[in-house]
Amino acid sequence: MQINSKSIKNHFEKSMEKYNENAVVQANLANQLVQEILKYKNNFDTILELGCGTGLLTAKVKEKITFKTYYANDIVEKSKNYISKILPNFEFIHGNAQRIKPPAGLDLIISNAMFQWFVNLEPVINSYKNFLNKGGIIAFSTFGPKNFCEIKNVSGLTLNYLTEQQIKNILEKDFDILYCCEYTQTLEFESPLALLAHMKNTGVNSLTSKIWTVKDVKVFCEKYLENFDKVQLTYNPIIVIAKLK
Ligand SMILES: C[S@@+](CC[C@H](N)C(=O)[O-])C[C@H]1O[C@@H](n2cnc3c(N)ncnc32)[C@H](O)[C@@H]1O
Repeated sequence: MQINSKSIKNHFEKSMEKYNENAVVQANLANQLVQEILKYKNNFDTILELGCGTGLLTAKVKEKITFKTYYANDIVEKSKNYISKILPNFEFIHGNAQRIKPPAGLDLIISNAMFQWFVNLEPVINSYKNFLNKGGIIAFSTFGPKNFCEIKNVSGLTLNYLTEQQIKNILEKDFDILYCCEYTQTLEFESPLALLAHMKNTGVNSLTSKIWTVKDVKVFCEKYLENFDKVQLTYNPIIVIAKLK
């Protein structure tokens, strides 16, 4: 299923206040992503972060990586206020990362838990490689086909998640893959309602553009309990670090 960017923007904007306290998987991923980058390099002149949100990844980069210029992008303009509390100097590039034109000469393009929202990853990668310096790095985390498998099972809602191999195939033409890993992590909840609240507070209720009625929520909760013994939500992170050939 493909979701329109207006719906994604609205849901993330509404989740921002509660995002940091709920986004445990994304926080862990931001940490892992930076730790893996540090194994190759700890200083980059110019960094572009795509889909920076409330700055979970930005804060980790600031802590561990040295840089001169930081460009931060998000489709939600309010994100700029969050980043300004983390970085003293940065340039905010507001807009859809599939369409923005950042300045060329980047040394690192970085993104946490966002590439799964792209309608089609290949043209995005093909476009961003033109903004990277030779030997520049693209490092991102995204999610694979097992992501939210419980939601798919109960409601049929899912994104067009790519497999680790499909992502590698897209990158391999122009990049050397320095690191790639895929795993699952499961969170448990006391009720389907608590699971839905978790999704809402991390912005991923944008899996559907439709507004759920009280009846929709009731039907989802009943179906979830019919299908599963435990209330859990599976995440399927994929982390990739690749260097432009
Ligand atoms: C799951 S949040 C991750 C936020 C942040 N990267 C982190 O580490 O927590 C996804 C972010 O990507 C943004 N986003 C989604 N689609 C986007 C797009 N096409 N262009 C730019 N930002 C986008 C959302 O607004 C949201 O802030």
